[in-house]
Amino acid sequence: MDEAKLNEFMGKLVSDMGASAMLANVILGDELGLYKAMADSQPITPQQLADRTGCNGRLIREWLSAHVASGYMEHRDGQFVLPEEQALALAIEDSPVYAAGGVMVVASMFHDKDKLVAAMRGDGGLPWGEHHPCMFSGTERFFRPGYKTYLVSQWLPALEGVVEKLTAGARVADVGCGHGASTIVMAQAFPASRFVGFDYHAPSITTATQRAQEAGVSEQVTFAQSTAKDFPGDDYDLICYFDCLHDMGDPVGAAQHAYRALKADGSVLLVEPYAKDTLDENINPVGRLFYAASTFICTPNSLSQEVGLGLGAQAGEGRLREVFDAAGFTQLRRAAETPFNLILEARK
Ligand SMILES: C[S@@+](CC[C@H](N)C(=O)[O-])C[C@H]1O[C@@H](n2cnc3c(N)ncnc32)[C@H](O)[C@@H]1O
Repeated sequence: MDEAKLNEFMGKLVSDMGASAMLANVILGDELGLYKAMADSQPITPQQLADRTGCNGRLIREWLSAHVASGYMEHRDGQFVLPEEQALALAIEDSPVYAAGGVMVVASMFHDKDKLVAAMRGDGGLPWGEHHPCMFSGTERFFRPGYKTYLVSQWLPALEGVVEKLTAGARVADVGCGHGASTIVMAQAFPASRFVGFDYHAPSITTATQRAQEAGVSEQVTFAQSTAKDFPGDDYDLICYFDCLHDMGDPVGAAQHAYRALKADGSVLLVEPYAKDTLDENINPVGRLFYAASTFICTPNSLSQEVGLGLGAQAGEGRLREVFDAAGFTQLRRAAETPFNLILEARK
């Protein structure tokens, strides 16, 4: 036994326990509006924050202290500050780095522990729809800032000739659309185009339809319940998969269906979690987060469906290329990337 290694690991474990406990506090701050009440980054006393948010002053002081101990806030002379940078991540929903939604996804993993115990001891399957509700809204809130920031400004322009088609008026399918965040962002940018979002999870389709109404794009956008292997239509200019192909049981079958549904010169936009091809190359904070979430969410979802390929959230470009090759596509290239996403373009 190497005592130095033991101490090093214990330090890491205590730090991770602190991180998990902090995430529970982040959920409180999000739900109670505490971060938003501090978003101006002005110094505030615990009692002022309690008064502003209608919360208990003593508990607020403890919550603030946890944030200082975690490096999430600063304090001086009995006052606390949420620095501008932390406010971008925790308080400002439109900011490109807003991450509170991701914390909701992590929270769902604790809620769903018993279901995972059963899946682990059984066939490994846990369908998307059986997760705690905070997983659905958390996914939407986690991914939407990235779509708002990159989709229209960087990802679509990185595809061959797609922006021109969208501007002139194109037909687009957003497969595995969830709450429709990506569909709505595209519709707002390209009013001449028509978009249809498909997802096999009926409650997500209901929410996506509401979101389209709220955003005022209902004339351009429809949502329908359908699996990735049987959605209707055979003349799409663009078929998109945002962070969902690896969740599917039969991604090859899905890609074959897209091949048939796409026009001859159409494009597939495949957005997947950022990953390299091997575990050794994915040993980093992003790989850690995605493997851990994939154990609870993505891989069990795939195993609950036919074929059950179980790509996992760290499939990497090599395995995704095999999927599209097997489906008959002749071209697949990396169009763009961010720290969280690989953006691939496939053509017939
Ligand atoms: C991680 S979520 C991403 C949702 C959405 N694209 C987004 O970016 O916010 C994965 C989505 O894939 C959907 N899904 C999984 N398997 C599917 C299948 N076989 N056919 C259609 N949708 C599927 C789930 O219901 C879920 O909404």
